[in-house]
Amino acid sequence: MDQNQPMSAAISPAAPPLAIDRDVNLRALNSFGIAATARTLVHIGSEADVRRLLAHPEHGRAPKLVLGGGSNLVLSRDPPAVVLRVEVKGRRLLAETAEAWIVEVGAGEVWHDVVQWTLEQGWPGLENLALIPGTAGAAPVQNIGAYGLELKDRFESLDAVDLVTGRTVTLDARACAFGYRDSVFKHDAADGGLAGKSLITRVRLRLPRPWQPVLGYLDLQRRMAETGNHAPDARTVFDWVCTIRRAKLPDPAQIGNVGSFFKNPIVSAEQCRDIIGRDPEIVHYPLPDGTVKLAAGWLIDACGWKGKSVGRAGVYERQALVLVNRGGASGAEVVTLARAIQESVYGRFGIRLEPEPVIV
Ligand code: EPU
Repeated sequence: MDQNQPMSAAISPAAPPLAIDRDVNLRALNSFGIAATARTLVHIGSEADVRRLLAHPEHGRAPKLVLGGGSNLVLSRDPPAVVLRVEVKGRRLLAETAEAWIVEVGAGEVWHDVVQWTLEQGWPGLENLALIPGTAGAAPVQNIGAYGLELKDRFESLDAVDLVTGRTVTLDARACAFGYRDSVFKHDAADGGLAGKSLITRVRLRLPRPWQPVLGYLDLQRRMAETGNHAPDARTVFDWVCTIRRAKLPDPAQIGNVGSFFKNPIVSAEQCRDIIGRDPEIVHYPLPDGTVKLAAGWLIDACGWKGKSVGRAGVYERQALVLVNRGGASGAEVVTLARAIQESVYGRFGIRLEPEPVIV
């Protein structure tokens, strides 16, 4: 069979028709709450749905935009693509060994529900990643991370369907090429990546046994000092992370946002020394390879952006790294604000901030 032909022959004639909606307002489907219209939106509940779509006479070959929870997306216009809403459900324990619990979840499961469910089942390990908005399928795309833990630290493998051939592939951590808020799914084909080329359907997580808390992050150290509890259980770490996040980060259900809007930039030791010489207060974290990660929130705050707005897009009052929708913001307003922030940070520190979300 030609590698580039959709696997239409594999589809059972009795399969239900694809669920396709026309002219869908995406406002409720992206956590920024930006209004944009999907001319065609296809609900993907299974791998077979992807293959049915690829065999579809009208939409099979059209450009496609994969939408999970829409929590890492800025819609600056109506997407010029067929929007695929990933709704693959299911969660189960695949294996339990002396070393780990291996859990498998559908890409359309809500990430925070997965974290809560694993804890309730007695399989701890994801508690530091509580309350991160979005779906399980989106988690590997940007290698979500918080409070000293990244998805890659708990990752086993994932299944993804090739959006040209319809074939399912299983990728391990190495194939996913995880980096800081980065993976193979964020890079174009020209760059050796899979962006826009595949749809993640299932994610498998490895939760190591015996459980060991991850408590190195400053905010968690503070919690331990405040409570006097230096040996918290997983449920306590979960509660602490939820409390810390709620104090700093806006709830997308109340105020539209995509979490951190920019990545924390990584600079050379010389560049950092130079900046410290001028701004001794700068928040920075030396990395094992000799480079230094700077707190983008601090840089933006230092440029006076906290609480400011451009049109209906603003900078959150309690965390300058988070851009918010003050009500009815357009994607263009968000992008204008983001550019203005990038320019002022570059003007003062000579550092180019890189956006974390995908801008369509
Ligand atoms: N800071 C300021 N002013 C601000 C914001 C931050 O001075 O307006 C300072 C803080 O005082 C702190 C430092 O900057 O000393 C870092 O701030 P914080 O601990 O809030 O973390 P962050 O670096 O801003 C990162 C992740 C978050 C993650 C937290 C906790 C990135 C881009 N962001 O934020 O991830 O929750 O650490 O681990 O790496 C996300 O990716 O969407 C996200 C929310």
